[in-house]
Amino acid sequence: MSTIRVEREEPIATVRLDRPEVLNALSAELMDELVTALESLDEDEAIRCIVLTGNDKAFAAGADIKTSFVEATPVSMLKQDLTTRWERIRRIRTPIVAAVSGYCLGGGCELAMVCDIIVASETAQFGQPEVNLGIIPGAGGTQRLTRAVGKYVAMELILTGRRIKADEARAVGLAAQVYPAASWLDDAKALARTIADKPPIAVRLATEAIDLAQSAPLEAGLEFERKAFYLLFATEDKKEGVDAFLNKRKAVFKGQ
Ligand code: CAA
Repeated sequence: MSTIRVEREEPIATVRLDRPEVLNALSAELMDELVTALESLDEDEAIRCIVLTGNDKAFAAGADIKTSFVEATPVSMLKQDLTTRWERIRRIRTPIVAAVSGYCLGGGCELAMVCDIIVASETAQFGQPEVNLGIIPGAGGTQRLTRAVGKYVAMELILTGRRIKADEARAVGLAAQVYPAASWLDDAKALARTIADKPPIAVRLATEAIDLAQSAPLEAGLEFERKAFYLLFATEDKKEGVDAFLNKRKAVFKGQ
């Protein structure tokens, strides 16, 4: 892989976008390599949480404007079937923490939003600046940002292209945590390890239920939650969790 780096530190793995010369702009090659790496980690039972990150200066500055947009036509974009890659990332079952430092713009912000949790260095800057290029977000930004921050904040951000800093991103509900610039990646990995320590089947069903809250009517979401809740009573990890509580010891979950 030439545009991303994968580091395994079981039970977590870190996937690092690695095109620093263009602030990790999301070329087709990078997106293909990213999907391949994430799907491979998703198959690996030893990996229970993934950190997706960039470098200090940029998570990702968006689609690669130079290689993807200059000659693009509606037909060429349709043929590339861009949405398939994003859909494949959305379907990854292992929780993904987007650890954002520096620029997180356009498709970069959309990539963070397709992850399960967003955490930010205090240097992070989020935005959907597509309007400045005469286009709109095209990888879920109008939908996911609106669900994350509500209609009126999303309107302001997408219609103006204004960038917001980490504290504002947290205040509007886009970032779950803001970490110091000196330790942001270690802090994000610690969060991933905390999640990796939890019972994987419960984590997976909670993730699915929360995602459903973004797309399904309340009744359907509640129905799914109830069934998932009942299902977990058949797992060994539920027995282990309850037994560990009763015996005042630390639970060891096996994903069974
Ligand atoms: N695509 C391709 N190259 C990019 C890029 C992008 N999205 N963003 C930055 N780069 C390149 C720059 O062209 C520059 O390369 P050169 O040294 O060869 O000139 C290099 O990265 C460093 O960038 P800057 O010199 O511009 O760095 P800066 O610190 O002065 O500014 C920035 C940083 C504000 C992020 C600025 O680079 C910028 O505005 N980038 C574009 C952001 C953007 O519009 N993103 C949305 C893209 S559209 C999209 O993503 C659609 C979608 O929904 C999928």
